[in-house]
Amino acid sequence: MTAVDAHPLTGTAAPVRFPTGFRWGTATAAYQIEGAATEDGRTPSIWDTFSRTPGKVRNGDTGDIAADHYHRLDEDIALLKEVGVTDYRFSVSWPRVQPTGQGPASQRGLDFYRRLVDSLLEAGIRPVATLYHWDLPQELESPPAAGSTAGGGWPERDTAERFAEYAHLVGAALGDRVATWTTLNEPWCAAFLGYASGVHAPGRTDPAAALRAAHHLNLAHGLATRALRAALPAGSPAELSLTLNLHALRPLHDTPADRDAVRRIDAVANRVFLDPVFHGRLPEDLVEDTAALTDWAFVRDGDLETISAPIDSLGINYYNPTVVTAGTSDTPSPYPGTADRVGFVPAPGPRTAMDWPVDADGLYELLTRLRDELPGTPLMVTENGAAYDDYADPSGAVHDPERVAYLRSHIAAVHRAIEDGAPVGGYFLWSLLDNFEWAYGYSKRFGVVHVDFATQRRTLKDSARWYAQVIGRGGLD
Ligand code: FCB
Repeated sequence: MTAVDAHPLTGTAAPVRFPTGFRWGTATAAYQIEGAATEDGRTPSIWDTFSRTPGKVRNGDTGDIAADHYHRLDEDIALLKEVGVTDYRFSVSWPRVQPTGQGPASQRGLDFYRRLVDSLLEAGIRPVATLYHWDLPQELESPPAAGSTAGGGWPERDTAERFAEYAHLVGAALGDRVATWTTLNEPWCAAFLGYASGVHAPGRTDPAAALRAAHHLNLAHGLATRALRAALPAGSPAELSLTLNLHALRPLHDTPADRDAVRRIDAVANRVFLDPVFHGRLPEDLVEDTAALTDWAFVRDGDLETISAPIDSLGINYYNPTVVTAGTSDTPSPYPGTADRVGFVPAPGPRTAMDWPVDADGLYELLTRLRDELPGTPLMVTENGAAYDDYADPSGAVHDPERVAYLRSHIAAVHRAIEDGAPVGGYFLWSLLDNFEWAYGYSKRFGVVHVDFATQRRTLKDSARWYAQVIGRGGLD
C-alpha cells in the first residue's frame, strides 16, 4: 500500500513508513561538483579533456569550477544537515588523490576527503564513498608512454590493475570511517557511452573496445574489492558495494521478436555486469550476439573468479524505463551488436527536462527482479531523481512541484518493493546540488538545492524541504 492508494476499509490514504534504520541520503560525484580542477596537484581526467573538445559538451561547459564544492565544503555539509540525511554518497576524484593514475597518493588530495569524511561523521552523517564516478586520469587513457604499460583506457587490462592500486591507497587512508565503499558507478555508462556511442568521455566509437572496457571494469571492480578488503582494518564494519544503472526493459509488443529485443539489451546492459559479478560467468547469449565483434579472448583464466568476489550490497541507479522493439537503431549505438536488431521507442507519459519519461513502476520492477534473481543480496537505491527547469522567483524561492511529485512516486515504489520482500536498505536522491550534468553541461538541474553558477549561491528548493520532512517522519504521508 502506498500513499496514493486508498485504504480498502476506511477509504483514506495510509501513511507509508520505511523500516527503522532505513538510510536516507543524497548523492553527488566529484567532477560534477568539486571544481578546483588544477588545485593541490590534481591532474586532468578524461572529462577535463572531453569537455574541452569542441562540440562534446553543451555550451562548451567544463567542470573547472562546477559548484565549487572543493572550497565550500562546510557550507555544503551544513546543507546536508539541514535536509537531515542519514547518509551522503560522494565520489573520490582519482586524479586528485593519485595524480596521473600511478605512484604514491597525493596527501593534499587525500586531505580533502579526510576533511569531508571527518566533517560528515561529526555531523552524524554516514559517508558512502564511490571510487570511480567516471573521472579516469587522462594519462591512463592516453596511449602508453615508451617503456610503460599504463594507458589506453578501460579497453586495456592494465587500467583495471591501476584501479586496484588506487583503491588500496584510498582504502588505507580513509579506512573504516567510510560506512559503504562503492567501487564503480554505472560501469555501463563508462564502457558504452565512453567507448561505443562516444557521447561521454573519452568519446571513442569502437564497439569492440567498449566490450573490452566492460570486462576490464568488471575486473577492476573485483580487484578493487580484494584491495579494499586488504586495506581496511581487520574486523572493519565497512560494506563493499557496486552501483549499476540496470535498465528496466519493456517490449513494445508482447511478441517473440520484441521479447528477443529485450533479451539482447538485457544481455549488453544488465547481465554483462550481473552475471560476472554475482555468478562468475559471462552471459552466453551476449558472447553469441557479439561474435562478429570479438571472441572475448581478453577474458583470462581466473578473471571471473576475481570479479565474483562476494560484496555486501548492490546499488541501483534508476531514472526511467526503456521500451524496445525488433528493428534498427542509430549508430554508433551504445549497445554493441544490437543496432541492426533492436529499435528504441519513447515510453509514454510525462517527461522531465531530460526528456526522460516519468515511470516509477520501472524502479519497482528492477528491485523485485533483483529480489528474485539475487536472493540474499541487500540492495540500495544509490541514485534517483529528476531534472526540471528550476529558477529562483523574485522572492528567492525555488518551487519545484514536478520534482516533488517525481520523488514521491519513486519513494512510494521503493516502499512497495520493500513490502513485497525486496531487501532495500536505503534511498539516495540525485542530487544534493545542481551540477555539471556531463554532456549537458550546466543546462540540466538535478539538485534539490539550487545553485546560481554565477555567484555560487545555494538555495534550498521546495523539494529539499519536502525531502527533509520525508526523512523526519521516515516515509510519506
Ligand atoms: C547518472 C549518473 C549521475 C547523473 C545522473 C543524472 O547516470 O551516475 O552522475 O549524471 O545520471
